[in-house]
Amino acid sequence: MEKSITYFEKPGPINTDAIIGLVKERLRESDIKYVAVASSTGVSALKLNQALKDLDITIVNCSHHAGFKEVNKTRISAETRAQLEDEGIVTFIGSHALSGVGKSISKKFGGITPVEIIASTYRTISQGFKVCAEITIMLADAGLIPVGEEVVAIGGTGSGLDTAVVMTAANMTNAFDMKFHEIIAMPRP
Ligand SMILES: Cc1cc2nc3c(=O)[nH]c(=O)nc-3n(C[C@H](O)[C@H](O)[C@H](O)COP(=O)(O)O)c2cc1C
Repeated sequence: MEKSITYFEKPGPINTDAIIGLVKERLRESDIKYVAVASSTGVSALKLNQALKDLDITIVNCSHHAGFKEVNKTRISAETRAQLEDEGIVTFIGSHALSGVGKSISKKFGGITPVEIIASTYRTISQGFKVCAEITIMLADAGLIPVGEEVVAIGGTGSGLDTAVVMTAANMTNAFDMKFHEIIAMPRP
């Protein structure tokens, strides 16, 4: 089997439009039904939906947990969340699977927890690769994407999107059952 991978010269939001185009191409040649996207503000999720609206795909968005930047605040506004809902896209907001309460332990007492080591290891490939692993656990645990069938996951570096994969999600209790089948595009480390 031959599949192409696109490597971006630099990470970051400049790659958002290109990656959405590449995801669309890959979806056209597959029978994948779900796309999991990390879109903190919802901006990339809206762009993605605009591009994929002629495909029979369920897009599910994952934003940061409340309090990530500011106490009691979510990164996505109520208006954008509602707009996404109107377009059929659910936004999940919850505890981050690859940091969790462990992050409080390392912040308060120092060191690093095993889950954070998993996150850092994925980041050696790309930030977005870690994000794809993390959001698919979160969305699978929320019952919003299926476990046991291939989905597309898309993440980025800080903002926007630069990494897309075809993968099989896993719940947090079986995280090592997660499978990465194909890299569609990523920034070249
Ligand atoms: C749960 C979650 C975890 C994230 N973790 C990281 C991370 O570890 N490193 C990183 O560069 N970006 C991280 N991001 C950012 C995303 O990869 C992506 O760039 C961003 O959500 C796009 O949002 P936008 O549509 O508002 O630009 C994370 C986003 C979410 C929702």
